[in-house]
Amino acid sequence: MAAGTKDDDGCSPPSGRDAPSNAPQSAPWVDVMDADDLWIGDMIEAQTVVGPLLLVNIDGSVHAYENRCPHKGGRLSEGEFVNGVIVCPNHRWEFCAHSGRGINPAGAQLNRYAVQIVDGRILIAARTP
Ligand code: FES
Repeated sequence: MAAGTKDDDGCSPPSGRDAPSNAPQSAPWVDVMDADDLWIGDMIEAQTVVGPLLLVNIDGSVHAYENRCPHKGGRLSEGEFVNGVIVCPNHRWEFCAHSGRGINPAGAQLNRYAVQIVDGRILIAARTP
């Protein structure tokens, strides 16, 4: 199975192609990068006005999270992205790339930012929901 695809580990995409927006309508949207530069299966760090974000492209759907592990602050972009799962490089906590929800441990959660693609550019809501 290719990187960035779902698996039967409880980490599945929401119904529909893209995740529902989790940003308030009034959220200030910030231009981050060209969408063509984040390929399917990519996981990168992007410097933004809200700090370093983790951007992932899973099956053409882009998600953004704070690039900081909720355990002890590991830099998630230096970890692995396999089968739709983000793995922290420090102690190998695992997170679903579709939602940021912890897989192991289950109670963890990444700070998520809403994403939209406009005119080929990736925009993120400048605050968490
Ligand atoms: S800092 Fe990420 S698992 Fe410990």
